[in-house]
Amino acid sequence: MDATAAAPLPGQDAAHPDGQYGRAAKWFHWITLGLMLIALPTGFVIKFITGDADGAYKMGFYAIHESAGLTILIVALARIVWKLRNPPPPHPADLPPPMRAAATATHHGLYALLVLQPVMGFFATNAWGFPMQGQTAYMGFLHLPKFMEASTGIANVLSWGHTIGGYLFVVLLGAHVGAAVFHHAIRRDGTLMRML
Ligand code: HEM
Repeated sequence: MDATAAAPLPGQDAAHPDGQYGRAAKWFHWITLGLMLIALPTGFVIKFITGDADGAYKMGFYAIHESAGLTILIVALARIVWKLRNPPPPHPADLPPPMRAAATATHHGLYALLVLQPVMGFFATNAWGFPMQGQTAYMGFLHLPKFMEASTGIANVLSWGHTIGGYLFVVLLGAHVGAAVFHHAIRRDGTLMRML
């Protein structure tokens, strides 16, 4: 045996010789974070915006929230297609099975919400009779077609799902960030550095 051979890096495989996520995976990850930092807070505060005589200020919030949210959907779909063709680096070999299962469940939950949450929000706005046109056009200028007739019943169900999705996001993102800090500060296994 060659005593001078370096020990394998955690999470190393043929496609990831340095154990790092690829460049595209990192872009997808950090762009999503930036958009989430817009979509999540604006979503939670919109309903508290009152006293806006002509509604223009509140409409601005809707436009920002809905545009960021719809962009998250586009980025998430591209990311999922890309990920299916480019698997991530494996977990460190010594990661205990319960931690592997927790990481996989959290990541799948986040991917599911990144798609479901904007879809519910988008169709809710259509069902309320406020498609992304006029003051809430996508990016402020792209007027999207109306995708369905207004229906209070459907709108209520989708808005309820969108609210639950918002709180679920907070829980899963909390677990995700908490795990990153745990890996970095306590386990010191280089997991966080793989995405930087
Ligand atoms: C990943 C993307 C998104 C996230 C994380 C998100 C998150 C949220 C959250 C947390 C709320 C507050 C729920 C509540 O307190 O009841 C909310 C409200 C809302 N969202 Fe989203 N959302 C996203 C995408 C979208 C999209 C794409 C649209 C529409 C095109 C949309 C339309 C709305 C509307 C109309 C509300 C209700 C605001 C109000 O209270 O009047 N959302 N969103």
